[in-house]
Amino acid sequence: MEDSEQIAVGIIGTGGMGGMHAENLHSRVVGARVAAVADLDTARAEKLAEECGYAAVFQDAVELIRDDSVEAVVIASPDPTHAPLALECLKNEKPVLCEKPLADSADAALKVVEAEVELGEKLVQVGFMRRYDPQHVAVKEAVESGAVGAPVLFKGWHRNAGLAPGITSEWVIINATIHDIDSVRWFLGQEIEEVYVRGVNTEPELGEDVWDLQLIQLSTTGGRMGAIETYVVSGYGYEVGVELVGEQGTVHTAPPAGAVVRRDRAASQRIEDNWLERFHTAYVIEMQQWVESLGNGRPTGPDAWDGYASLVAADACIASLRSGSPQRVAMLEPPALYGDKGLGVIR
Ligand code: NAI
Repeated sequence: MEDSEQIAVGIIGTGGMGGMHAENLHSRVVGARVAAVADLDTARAEKLAEECGYAAVFQDAVELIRDDSVEAVVIASPDPTHAPLALECLKNEKPVLCEKPLADSADAALKVVEAEVELGEKLVQVGFMRRYDPQHVAVKEAVESGAVGAPVLFKGWHRNAGLAPGITSEWVIINATIHDIDSVRWFLGQEIEEVYVRGVNTEPELGEDVWDLQLIQLSTTGGRMGAIETYVVSGYGYEVGVELVGEQGTVHTAPPAGAVVRRDRAASQRIEDNWLERFHTAYVIEMQQWVESLGNGRPTGPDAWDGYASLVAADACIASLRSGSPQRVAMLEPPALYGDKGLGVIR
């Protein structure tokens, strides 16, 4: 495919996620190319630009967004930069795939929603890549087919092998559990109405007030229930899975068939190390579908409303964590622009 036929994508942030998205765009995704990269660390950006053939290098992300040669943007810089950069993309009417969370607070995410409503066009997609993970999609399809009857309970587990010191209990919610919150909304097709968070510290090195293992009980607007476990220092590996309990059966994610090693009177199977490995396929599909949707006009994946709604629920989780009591989720009504937001109402 000629360069001119490919969508010219600019990537902001060239760390773990930006590097992975760039590699996918460069080597695995059809219909787009990495045209520019931006990072405060220009040496890192230059290295990535070189790995992608040729890409312009910027230190200032706003300059990349404004550059005429950039047609669409991927934001993979730290959380507090997301909302300001997404707003800049909207100002320049450029579609953007913004890593989660959409902002570092629900209020900041609402500003992105308001700017999109003002523009009258949905240009923002949020990086909730689990919606593209074949294991999650298989469960979603089973639920939507009616195979287990109406889903009444969502259970999710999300375990990291380990995370560096410096995290807080709030960070666990905004940065890790935000994915599980999106899963609840996506699988149940309803908004979260009330949350109750409990936690424990299993790793004193993180700081004794850091709840690295958290359990959230929740209910939804249609009276369904959910339970989310987030454990950021499980020690044994990275695992994410869901189970939906329906009125007539249950369905859960099943890891693809892998090799089982039997030795020394034990059977073992490898567990992935981190999200880049576990969700490798999901990230490629997410990027391919985003590129295709741009060719067809605009992004069709999780939108700014999903980014906002997940952060409102996350804020309620933080309030519950601090107060020790259940908290209502104070959600606004979605503007008409998000009427087709595709939660996929399941009855
Ligand atoms: P990272 O620390 O590896 O990379 C971030 C990069 O952004 C660094 O190279 C840094 O120099 C650069 N940067 C910082 N401020 C910048 C600015 N103002 N303009 C341009 N570049 C800037 O972080 P990582 O792990 O790549 O995470 C990036 C984002 O992706 C975070 O928001 C994180 O929450 C999200 N994330 C999403 C995941 C998913 O599964 N969807 C998984 C992991 C992270």
